[in-house]
Amino acid sequence: MKINSNNGIETMIELIKVSKEYPPDVVALKDLSLSIASGEMFFVIGMSGAGKTTLLKLLCSMEIPSSGLIEISGKPINQLKGSHLAKLRQKIGVAYQDFKLLNDRTTAENVAISMEVSYKKPQIIRKRVRDLLDQLGLSDKHNTITGELSRGEQQRVTLARAIANSPTMILVDEPTGNLDAITTERVMNLLNKCNKGGATVVIATHDDSIYRHTSHRVMELRKGRPHMMTGGIE
Ligand SMILES: Nc1ncnc2c1ncn2[C@@H]1O[C@H](COP(=O)(O)OP(=O)(O)OP(=O)(O)O)[C@@H](O)[C@H]1O
Ligand SMILES: [Mg+2]
Repeated sequence: MKINSNNGIETMIELIKVSKEYPPDVVALKDLSLSIASGEMFFVIGMSGAGKTTLLKLLCSMEIPSSGLIEISGKPINQLKGSHLAKLRQKIGVAYQDFKLLNDRTTAENVAISMEVSYKKPQIIRKRVRDLLDQLGLSDKHNTITGELSRGEQQRVTLARAIANSPTMILVDEPTGNLDAITTERVMNLLNKCNKGGATVVIATHDDSIYRHTSHRVMELRKGRPHMMTGGIE
């Protein structure tokens, strides 16, 4: 199955017949062909175990496909090595479903990490961290060790870290799973802002409140296969 993005726009993500199997016999993704345009916001939905996280892990090269080709910005991500792969990864921000925070560090330190890797000035980092925490309603948690935060707070720190360095591609896995409606809106406002600023955003979610009225494309996975594709569900 081939899913095309809008014609005439540069492609950010291209999958050609991608499958992912986990031993001994789990088929997590099957023959997925998909094209996502640069600057697009794209939703991946589906039941638990459908393959959403697997797809995001393949897109950031955390997992390699069992077969098929994945290109990011025209580059075959699984054939890149060393500094070429590191350079591409720096342009990808990932908010993991299981957060992967450094739980003995503060909120601010966790968010700053992605910017320190790119050698930004300390005052620029401090300002960006404060801005992001403010937008996510976490200003009062700036100096709190993330291990002491609630799950919903940790989830937002994860998102702030993913977008802090202004990546061109943002992968978010269940960004609103632990959040109330108002905080969900804050998170989506921030992701929409990143998208309007030009970032390609791929969101894996169960939360129909965030894609129900969207005009962006929504792909449902069922047992690793794409099942329907819309420009938003009414
Ligand atoms: N490392 C792994 N080893 C073996 N099986 C795995 C591994 N990771 C995922 N799977 C299996 O692959 C399938 C897809 O998992 P995946 O995590 O992609 O689903 P998901 O759609 O993200 O689910 P959820 O909504 O619960 O997060 C599931 O059957 C899962 O058990
Ligand atoms: Mg998942």
